[in-house]
Amino acid sequence: MPREPSTPGLAGPRNAMSNNSSSTLTITDNRTQREYEIRILDGDVIRAMDLRQIKVRDEDFGMMAYDPGFTNTAFTTSRITDVKGSKGILEYRGYPIEQLAEQATFLEVASLILNGELPTREELDQFVHDVTFHTYVHENVTTILQGFRYDAHAMGMMISTVAALSTFYPEAKEVDDPENRRIQITRLLAKMPTLAAFAYRHHKGLPYVYPENGLSYTANFLNMLFRIGGREYKPNPVLERALDVLFILHADHEQNCSTTAMRVIGSSRVDPFSALAGAMAALYGPLHGGANEAVLRMLTEIGTRDNIPDFMDSVRRGERRLMGFGHRVYKAYDPRASIIKRTAEEVFEVTGRNPLLDIALELEQIALQEEYFIQRNLYPNVDFYSGLIYQAMGFPVELFPVLFAIPRTVGWLAQWEEMVVDREQKIARPRQVFMGHPRRDYVPIDSR
Ligand code: CMC
Repeated sequence: MPREPSTPGLAGPRNAMSNNSSSTLTITDNRTQREYEIRILDGDVIRAMDLRQIKVRDEDFGMMAYDPGFTNTAFTTSRITDVKGSKGILEYRGYPIEQLAEQATFLEVASLILNGELPTREELDQFVHDVTFHTYVHENVTTILQGFRYDAHAMGMMISTVAALSTFYPEAKEVDDPENRRIQITRLLAKMPTLAAFAYRHHKGLPYVYPENGLSYTANFLNMLFRIGGREYKPNPVLERALDVLFILHADHEQNCSTTAMRVIGSSRVDPFSALAGAMAALYGPLHGGANEAVLRMLTEIGTRDNIPDFMDSVRRGERRLMGFGHRVYKAYDPRASIIKRTAEEVFEVTGRNPLLDIALELEQIALQEEYFIQRNLYPNVDFYSGLIYQAMGFPVELFPVLFAIPRTVGWLAQWEEMVVDREQKIARPRQVFMGHPRRDYVPIDSR
């Protein structure tokens, strides 16, 4: 099976430091007075396994790092997306998000993320053609959807139907075959909007609208969602482009919760449909991709500007979180939030101003000036303004996490493929620090 060459230090062009003999760390174990020299790899990274030699007795397991939430653990090397959190920088394959959002299309960015380079015109045409011609789903998928209640959440339906697709493509198990991976990646990218639109139409009790191959990725999605009767549906070009931009902004974000889920599940060599269903489940949570939905519900609950002071008091007291604020990596303004804020203005010119915008702007204004938020580096993230756009465009709140999942499918799949071909990757299996009972004998039930 073709795999990336193995990586002696950490893989990648910026590895010069790993060959520098002065790049070591000397650790003194004060329990034993022994000294250990640990190699420092690219930047400030050491291999966790190098700590294992640190022991008091020979029979000891050796030292581990304890890191709940992986706050300081690099799980993988990657060449896909770079987030420089302190500077508010996001780059896909080296290209700044601002340039891509301004000049590229979503499928162009998808091709870049998946293949590593901007596509030529010919390559892009082929990629668009392939994605367009795999948009149909097996008719039995509609039978699966019929099993859901009318008020089922769209993410629940999506997660289930994506997992179900693995049964339609059993050959997807051949994860070590590059051509097989390519076709499954194409299928997933192509079918996600169809599944999302079908889930929405099921919720509404409307007949499904089948894909239209003549439309763009986002126009086809809007058509499948909103078309009524036989009349041609023409999405407003401003809204079509706004959705494309939002998709670009959500396409990847390196090792976040759902991408890590994708890699962890995929490391068992399961097919990508099953792994992606797991990644979607991780995204669904309100601290991750479910935050856009949570923001809208929060703004609706606040309702009027008069209620903002009470709400902010509850945030300061730690009773509530200001949803759409804060990020594990960004300790400055999330660059995606700035672009979304601008896109929102363009969208509102077409749809009319979302009345919740005033509440959002005032919350941001307060948060940017207040000690509580400044001290904790809490700035608006990608989810703070995206929901306002989605709502103005007519998407129901339940569809918001789905609108995150569709473009993030690109990132999940690129990261999955990178993991599959990475020789250093093994099945994900972290350690634990066992804090439970030491060994004790079983007590028969009548003697307890
Ligand atoms: N509102 C109020 N306080 C907050 C918030 C918030 N949104 N976020 C963090 N804090 C406080 C938190 O209470 C803690 O305070 P203290 O030190 O006094 O205990 C401090 O800031 C650090 O928070 P943390 O939970 O340790 O930070 P984290 O890096 O583990 O969490 C986060 C990151 C995104 C989960 C968190 O900021 C949060 O819950 N934000 C709201 C949900 C949200 O908008 N999520 C979308 C993230 S971006 C897109 C995505 O990933 O899907």
